[in-house]
Parts: sequence; C-alpha cells; structure tokens
Amino acid sequence: MNPTIDLLNAHCSTRAYDPTPPTDDEKQAVLHAAMRAPTAGNLMLYSILEIEDQALKDRLAVTCDDQPFIARAPWVLVFVADFQKWMDLFAATGCDSVPGVPHGVTPGLGDLLMACTDATIAAQNAVVAAESLGIGSCYIGDIMELGETHAEILELPRYTFPIAMLCLGRPGVAPRITERYEKHVVHTNTYRRLSEAELRDVSDDLDSLYGARASKPGVAGYVQDVYARKFTADFAAEMNRSVAWWLKRWEKPEA
Ligand SMILES: Cc1cc2nc3c(=O)[nH]c(=O)nc-3n(C[C@H](O)[C@H](O)[C@H](O)COP(=O)(O)O)c2cc1C
Repeated sequence: MNPTIDLLNAHCSTRAYDPTPPTDDEKQAVLHAAMRAPTAGNLMLYSILEIEDQALKDRLAVTCDDQPFIARAPWVLVFVADFQKWMDLFAATGCDSVPGVPHGVTPGLGDLLMACTDATIAAQNAVVAAESLGIGSCYIGDIMELGETHAEILELPRYTFPIAMLCLGRPGVAPRITERYEKHVVHTNTYRRLSEAELRDVSDDLDSLYGARASKPGVAGYVQDVYARKFTADFAAEMNRSVAWWLKRWEKPEA
C-alpha cells in the first residue's frame, strides 16, 4: 500500500542475530525516533537504558526467564517508565514552596500507567525505526519479573518500572512472519463478549492457524496449550508476583 504499511506488515521478531552491531549513526537514528514518539503532556515519562556491559547482559539472559539469545543480542535497550526524574526535578526546583497548590504529592498508579504507556510507545517507535534500517528486534516482557533483582542490578529508584526490554541486531536468519488472528478484535462502539458458538469457532480457527498443539498429555488444542504452557506457567506466576512488588514499592507510604 505504502512503504510504512509494508514495513509494519513485514514485522517479525528477531531472536538470532548477525554479530555485526548497528552503527553509532543507526543507534542514534533509532533512539531519536523513539524519542519522537507521542508522549503524555510532552513529559517523556521514560528513560532508556543501553545495556553495554556484557556481564550485565549475561545476567539479564538468566534473570529474564533464561533466554540465552539476550546475551548474544548486539544491542539491548531497557525501556523504563520513569516518574522519578520529574519527582527529582520538582524537588530540585523547589516545587514544594509553590503557593496555592498541594504539597507532598506523590505519583499514583495513574501516573505509573501513563509512564508505562509513554515508555511502550517509545519502544515501539524504536522497533519500527530499527526495522526500517534492516535491524530486527525482540521484546522481552520478562524484564518485569524478579523485581527485587532487576531494581538492584539496574539501580532503579522507587518511581521507575522496567516495562520492556528490546534485543536488537541484524537478523541472522531469514524472517518468518507469524500470522495474526484478526476476527473479533475490532468492536463497534461498545464491547461485546463472544457467544459460546463464536468461542468454539475461534478455538477451531486458532487450531487451524497455529496448529492444535499438545504440549502435555491431556492438553487438546491451541487454547488449552496456551492455558497450560503460558497462562498457568511458572513465569506467569512470577510476573504477577513481581509486578505486585513493583506496584507496592511505587505506592508504599513515605516512611
Ligand atoms: C510485551 C511483549 C513481551 C514479549 N516477551 C518476549 C520474550 O520474553 N521472549 C521472546 O522470545 N519473545 C517475546 N516477545 C515477542 C513475541 O513472542 C512475539 O511478538 C509474538 O510471538 C509474535 O511474533 P512476531 O513478533 O514475530 O510477529 C514479546 C512481545 C511483547 C509485545
């Protein structure tokens, strides 16, 4: 249709990399494009950590649910939802003495979600910019796991949250497109839950599209496989435990 839509439609995640790293010019172009993303109130509620230390990459490959390709990625970025920088700016510029406004206000969960949205949109801009330069990427959601460990090794202060990690590099293998299931995603005006008959059709469609996998005895079909292999998996339980820890840390009352 046009080169931008063609690029978006050609997306696939890259987990095997040619060892040649992106050039400095390419990195700057990708980071600049990330920062051109829309951002709530133009506040840029995120920071981007470039993980250059190989020992730290090696550690993240383990702490992010044992995914060794992370250690081999030529360029690794962590997108951190960041309200800390604004809290520090408020303090440094004496906002607590501004007359006629409340003082001692701390960021709430709405601020956290807004910062997560900002950081994620910036990350996706980076993905698209990188792909336009022939650089592939893969999100790592497991950066939200093991909160206590990631806060320590990335030195993340209280009003931050690592919402996404990106592994980037030129693809070392041919791209393989994963089809999307586009039925029932777009609703008109209001949300509509699917009927039992529609749910059975969706399950059959998913089996046809992705294969009726059976990862364990007794598992029948793609949906049951997702339930057994992802939804109820140890990593999902750890993700939920860890995110509760991040939220508690963000919200805990001042000592
Ligand atoms: C929030 C998020 C977290 C993800 N986490 C991982 C991950 O930890 N490891 C991984 O190999 N892929 C991860 N992915 C990539 C997805 O598996 C991938 O996008 C999906 O299977 C569709 O494939 P495609 O991107 O090639 O179209 C993640 C993607 C997103 C958006």
